[in-house]
Amino acid sequence: MPWENVKLNSGHEMPSIAFGTGSLGNGDGPVDQVDQAISVGFSHVDTAQAYRKRERSCGLKRSEIFITTKYSGLGGLDIKISIKNSLENLGVEYVDLYLIHHPRLAVPDIPTVWKEMEDIQAQGLVKSIGVSNFTILLHPYVYLTQSPIIAYAQKNNIAIEAYSALIPLTRHPGGPVDAPVNEIAKKLNVAPEQVLLAWVKAKGAIAITASSKKDRLQRYLDAGDISLADEDVAAIDAAGAIGTRLQASQKLVTTGAGVLIFAACISLALIGLRM
Ligand SMILES: NC(=O)c1ccc[n+]([C@@H]2O[C@H](COP(=O)([O-])OP(=O)(O)OC[C@H]3O[C@@H](n4cnc5c(N)ncnc54)[C@H](OP(=O)(O)O)[C@@H]3O)[C@@H](O)[C@H]2O)c1
Repeated sequence: MPWENVKLNSGHEMPSIAFGTGSLGNGDGPVDQVDQAISVGFSHVDTAQAYRKRERSCGLKRSEIFITTKYSGLGGLDIKISIKNSLENLGVEYVDLYLIHHPRLAVPDIPTVWKEMEDIQAQGLVKSIGVSNFTILLHPYVYLTQSPIIAYAQKNNIAIEAYSALIPLTRHPGGPVDAPVNEIAKKLNVAPEQVLLAWVKAKGAIAITASSKKDRLQRYLDAGDISLADEDVAAIDAAGAIGTRLQASQKLVTTGAGVLIFAACISLALIGLRM
């Protein structure tokens, strides 16, 4: 089964896998990489004011591409002006999804800023709205602590995006999640990154990922066909929970020694939250 569209509570649909531009450099490189992602079949591109990327037309009809961008408070400008700047930079009349990039941007408070988001949505500048980095994360090493809020979001019809879900491979290789992921990959004859993306799908979340390599991008899309067995999902959850506990005990030790360690985090966005 391919990556299916997710119906947001705004009534709009969103592809459940996206190519993220946050970790790309500047200049023509990112544009070429977005082109590459679109050429293999990605139809959802995730960007943000803060990523400061130059964009250009990708040759697709506007309706064939889903664009997410984020209000990052660049230049201290407000949402009303920022969205117009983003639309101009992107060369489009609307974006499909607009997120508040971080809670610190919700000034003076969340209800006031949310009202501004609703206003630009009502003007048709953005189709759906949501938040990003509001202290929620999703990957196997945080699933234990995050599962209640994820369950809450799902119960309340709030879509969830998982950024950096490949963290077990990119930042914590050798961790407890490796064993079940490699075992499942071997059993299904797929790559470990595909298993992790299939895990995101099994959790009902939208995957925001990236790669500089065309063949890997193709594998990411092919991961939409992987349905993990319940016991495989449970094995990854259990290994992730071991990692969560290990990380917590390490943090205790290092904090005790007067060193503050911030674990590499991924962000997760709650989309289409309408109050
Ligand atoms: N809202 C936010 O604050 C926020 C935060 C973080 C990220 N994001 C968005 O999410 C996007 C994706 O983030 P991410 O890059 O962290 O996503 P990711 O999907 O966790 O990681 C993608 C990276 O994994 C590497 N990779 C894939 N398979 C691998 C393997 N088997 N072994 C080692 N490395 C492997 C790829 O390298 P290759 O290039 O070599 O294939 C690529 O650089 C960002 O670009 C950004 O748009 C948003």
